[in-house]
Amino acid sequence: MDPHALQAIRQAVLPELPGFELEWLPQIDSTNSELMRRARAGRLEPVLLVAAEQSAGRGRLGRQWFSGADTDASRGSDGALTFSLGLPLAPRDWSGLSLAVGVSVVESLHPDLRLKWPNDVWLRDRKLAGILIETANLADITATRYAVVGVGINLKAPAATGLRTPPAWLGEVLPGTDAAKALLRLAAPLVQALKMFEQHGFAPFQGRFNRLDALGGLAVCLSDGTEGQAQGVDSTGALLVHTAHGLKKITSSEVSLRPLDPPPYENL
Ligand code: BTN
Repeated sequence: MDPHALQAIRQAVLPELPGFELEWLPQIDSTNSELMRRARAGRLEPVLLVAAEQSAGRGRLGRQWFSGADTDASRGSDGALTFSLGLPLAPRDWSGLSLAVGVSVVESLHPDLRLKWPNDVWLRDRKLAGILIETANLADITATRYAVVGVGINLKAPAATGLRTPPAWLGEVLPGTDAAKALLRLAAPLVQALKMFEQHGFAPFQGRFNRLDALGGLAVCLSDGTEGQAQGVDSTGALLVHTAHGLKKITSSEVSLRPLDPPPYENL
């Protein structure tokens, strides 16, 4: 990433997160893994770590995240934006954090994007971005944890095949957006969203999530076999599903969900 672009990102974020470091690496296993390693070694400073390539990118539910190194050379080094933001956070209630991050990412990027609970970013019926949040306990400060917010965004058509969900890429809605431009749009609002979440929890994000919800009103099937109609999220970020046995609240991040029928995306 060119130094001017890095400087612009640094200037945009600094007022929101004084003292933070912006680091760009050509290659790493996983930006999340690196910040979690650092946190366990006692390095708890706020940092935005960006990698041109990840050799072992990780997704939710123990899945792999394919980007950068897995793509063909014709995509160049800007096939994806992969970064993790690490910072100490002390919200009273952590529930809904990953949804709040999803809201921030989507609102910063493009009005055509939607969220599939809990935090996949979709363009119509395809996945454009994923979010993986991990936290590390701080032994000596009880209420505070070190949060690592990892975001991976396809910028160009991925070469990887066999993905669970067909991919979408940012160039479809924002042609010519490289990693630096995308990060400049995202970074400062993301820090603001995290601070808002720390102060007020998920409540200020509930309506915003529900307006962006790709599955609201649709028939869905959960990985535990439950079927029903998705009805958005409550004030803690739990997914509400109207089933034959009543309203079910899904809170577990271990549960995945898919639409039963192709949704009417032309109406979005
Ligand atoms: C998912 O869709 O399951 C979440 C994907 C998260 C990918 C990002 S890329 C930057 C950060 N480093 C990782 O190893 N994962 C996250």
